[in-house]
Amino acid sequence: MDESELFAKRASSFGANAAAYAQHRPGYPAEAIEWVIGDRMRVLDLAAGTGRLTEGLLAFGLEVTAVEPDEAMRAELTRRIPDVPALDGSAEDIPLPDASVEAVLVGHAFHWFNTDKALTEITRVLRPGGVFGALWNHDDLTVDWVAGLAELTATSLGEVQRVKVDVPSHDLLEPHELKTFPHRQRRTVESLLATLGTHSQISVADATERAQVFDRVRTYLWSRPETSAGEFDRPLITSVVRAIRR
Ligand SMILES: C[S@@+](CC[C@H](N)C(=O)[O-])C[C@H]1O[C@@H](n2cnc3c(N)ncnc32)[C@H](O)[C@@H]1O
Repeated sequence: MDESELFAKRASSFGANAAAYAQHRPGYPAEAIEWVIGDRMRVLDLAAGTGRLTEGLLAFGLEVTAVEPDEAMRAELTRRIPDVPALDGSAEDIPLPDASVEAVLVGHAFHWFNTDKALTEITRVLRPGGVFGALWNHDDLTVDWVAGLAELTATSLGEVQRVKVDVPSHDLLEPHELKTFPHRQRRTVESLLATLGTHSQISVADATERAQVFDRVRTYLWSRPETSAGEFDRPLITSVVRAIRR
């Protein structure tokens, strides 16, 4: 399999684990959402998956439309949040009219897009003065046990959580601003393993490699005082890029 085939396989891998994804992936800090949205109301959650970011947007009383290409992810979103319209579409082909939303948010997915095509579409559906925001959740590698964990979760397909926080500039967007927010997820050894299993570096790896990762991570987590005594907080950092539509 060449690199572009593997990329496509990973980008479309999430639906096979849709229920686990919805249950085990972290949401996003309210402060991060507020920083992007301001007082805007009509929001597109692009690459909405099972709705982890959608839930955070609804907590602000926003009017949300979800767009997601994977049928199983979309079905899980609709099962969990039936009132939100979940449309079949991609970042490169957004099924919404021109200038129809005040904000486009992308949760942990911009790195899967063809960024040129996606920004053309995002700026098309955004009204002037609207906002584009891309959010990513990362492990907080300044915490010793988390840095140790990160070394153990790498597979032949790459390192979990090492996605690039990068949004290219675009003529129709003001210069980007970047801000980070502390975040956390309540976990146990087994539920953290379930979270890691939803990352494409692990879920797309072959079964033997996946079992090896889980064995070494489980042994590590049971050996650490921070994680071996029941529930614990997994320290995360949410990175957010925000840019205003000219
Ligand atoms: C890591 S999940 C993030 C889901 C959700 N936003 C969240 O925060 O939990 C990445 C999502 O991006 C979707 N995706 C992959 N390529 C895409 C594309 N080109 N356009 C739109 N969505 C895409 C996947 O189907 C998957 O649901």
